[in-house]
Amino acid sequence: MHKIPFSPPRIDAATIDAVREVLESGWITTGPVTKSLEKEVAELSQIPRALCVSSATMGLELLLRWLGVGEGDEVIIPAYTYCATANVVLHCGARPVMVDVLPDTLTIDPEQVAAAITERTKVIVPVDLGGLPADYLDLWRIIESEEVMRRFRADNEVQEQLGRIALIADAAHSIGARYRGRSAASWCDAAVFSFHAVKNIATAEGGAICFNMPAPFDNDQLYQLLNVRSLHGQSKDALAKLGTNAWEYDVVEAGYKCNMPDVLAAMGLVEIRRYREDTLPRRRQIMEQYVEALENYDRAELPHFHSADKESSCHLFLLRIRDISLEERNNIIRMIFALGVSVNVHYKPLPLLTVYKKRGYRMEDFPVARDAWHREITLPVYYDLSEANVGRVVSAVGQSTERETLPLIIPSEVTE
Ligand SMILES: Cc1ncc(COP(=O)(O)O)c(C=O)c1O
Repeated sequence: MHKIPFSPPRIDAATIDAVREVLESGWITTGPVTKSLEKEVAELSQIPRALCVSSATMGLELLLRWLGVGEGDEVIIPAYTYCATANVVLHCGARPVMVDVLPDTLTIDPEQVAAAITERTKVIVPVDLGGLPADYLDLWRIIESEEVMRRFRADNEVQEQLGRIALIADAAHSIGARYRGRSAASWCDAAVFSFHAVKNIATAEGGAICFNMPAPFDNDQLYQLLNVRSLHGQSKDALAKLGTNAWEYDVVEAGYKCNMPDVLAAMGLVEIRRYREDTLPRRRQIMEQYVEALENYDRAELPHFHSADKESSCHLFLLRIRDISLEERNNIIRMIFALGVSVNVHYKPLPLLTVYKKRGYRMEDFPVARDAWHREITLPVYYDLSEANVGRVVSAVGQSTERETLPLIIPSEVTE
């Protein structure tokens, strides 16, 4: 029996044809295909403008730097996330202020955010974990509360114009997710998607910034500014320089180099065009099959991915097993792999990573994240995962958790 991978990208003839077309076009770096992808990202996300970049990490960093986040500033993030959310804050010279997550959704706990705000807080970066939107309405209530507005201290022109803490989502997992009837990204000042190889829309590496800044900001201008900044601050991109006698350019600032090339954007364009109608429904169906097979298994604590307010992008199926230790969880994972099924863990919380441990963050301060980390096993979800293989995954989880017994009710049609 073949091994079930964790999250292979959806690559088929359409993807290969689109990439081949770019390869044969004579233009492989940033150009018309990237610009088309940006338009489609903005449309899907119901926001004014999107900029494709080389990764979500760089997208977040560009935004923090644009806001002038630096030494002495604080950025509030959840302790339960990938290191990128925190690393970009350190890159800017600021301090990541970690808070715990909510036990049911594992997204940032708004009450803890409120308690962590100081006059140094410049940005809150919630993470739409596994594709489930954070509690944006609660976060806005906090940011716009009289007391928090009064405490906000602007250190530069951008912060003065905004006049409050910025809400920038680490939406690495959540392209296509919805919150209260509209795209989750449209609830934030800005949001950043990841198109990394294992994400719902994969371009091997890549990401997109969604600009949704309120007036008086001009999102088109902001797009232009960060577009130039993503290309060394060059006044013309490589394609523009190709025109007749158009070779000369200026460099207006010492920018970064984090543009997305057309050859990668081609994969993203194929994906985004079949995302809402095809990829997302299939991912949701797989998650529902897991729920159907596991809901009567009392040791399984199932993830939230659908509620009256929220619709996840179904990026990750974050299963938690009840009443197990870290060691038992690791043994279960070993056994699941031995049964030919690849699983993963999201996440080893930030305070356990050497870089943050050394900076004084302590795991005991984040009991919910700690408990989730001990019991979490992420099951494979990808477009081409068949119903039969969903059954194999469920069976492997059950066998491994119960040590050779199989008490799960697995729908007969998914049993092999
Ligand atoms: C929550 C979260 N944030 C940020 C990132 C960074 O994305 P990228 O690899 O595109 O920089 C990831 C990637 O796995 C992630 O899971």
